[in-house]
Amino acid sequence: MDLTIRQLKKAYLTRTGLMRRGIRKKQALDGVDLTLGPGLYGLLGPNGAGKSTLIHIITGSLAADSGQVLWNGKPARGIGFRRILGYMPQQQGLYDRYTGRRFLAYMAALKEIPSKEVPREVDRVAGEVNLTDQLDKRLAAYSGGMKQRLLLASALLGAPKLLILDEPTAGLDPKERVRLRELLASMAADRIILVATHVVSDVETVATKVILLREGKVVDAAPVSQLVDRYAPGGGLEEVYLSVFGEGDGK
Ligand SMILES: Nc1ncnc2c1ncn2[C@@H]1O[C@H](COP(=O)(O)OP(=O)(O)O)[C@@H](O)[C@H]1O
Ligand SMILES: [Mg+2]
Repeated sequence: MDLTIRQLKKAYLTRTGLMRRGIRKKQALDGVDLTLGPGLYGLLGPNGAGKSTLIHIITGSLAADSGQVLWNGKPARGIGFRRILGYMPQQQGLYDRYTGRRFLAYMAALKEIPSKEVPREVDRVAGEVNLTDQLDKRLAAYSGGMKQRLLLASALLGAPKLLILDEPTAGLDPKERVRLRELLASMAADRIILVATHVVSDVETVATKVILLREGKVVDAAPVSQLVDRYAPGGGLEEVYLSVFGEGDGK
């Protein structure tokens, strides 16, 4: 089981200036190469580094300018790939009038999970994120943390072999962060989990490898202990982050 990313490039063109006649090109990904086997990977970088762009391309919602995404050596697309993919997006585009249960059942249908398996699968993923008691409330009444957990539950539908989470701890309280971290760590043995974050503590103790992404390029990808040896001997991942990305947030 492996996810291979080869020479991925993506530039955004944006209009600028007077009458928006100018065009600026932003190279969001500048030749990303990665090979991931089973395990938990932290995709770490400041805001604007290109994490969400990389994830959008892997999940198929954005086309790359060039390069390849391969799942077990074959192009990662189509319904076959969607079945093995679980994706938790950064933004919460939720349906306020739905109940949690209806939302998950809807997402399960999009994943083409057989309808007779849906109720059991919805209960299972809700249990994983501790939302069982809230499933029949409307989403309008959910807190930010509950919405975040519901998105995570929907990413877990169908027990995906490739699980991709974009800033999953945003809006979670410290207890929920720890719980999420432990849940992901416990799931990483027989699947590939990629967690994009700019929060060092989300991945420091649980990541098989941390991928350092800066201005669309992979600076390094290695276990935390090796990154510490290379960039901040005697320190921790926080010091690695500061050494590689500087004190600013990279914007
Ligand atoms: N739709 C877009 N149009 C123009 N520029 C974009 C768009 N999305 C992202 N960018 C730019 O691409 C760069 C990478 O953004 P993004 O992938 O969202 O980074 P991250 O998720 O690491 O914060 C940033 O400079 C951002 O401003
Ligand atoms: Mg992002």
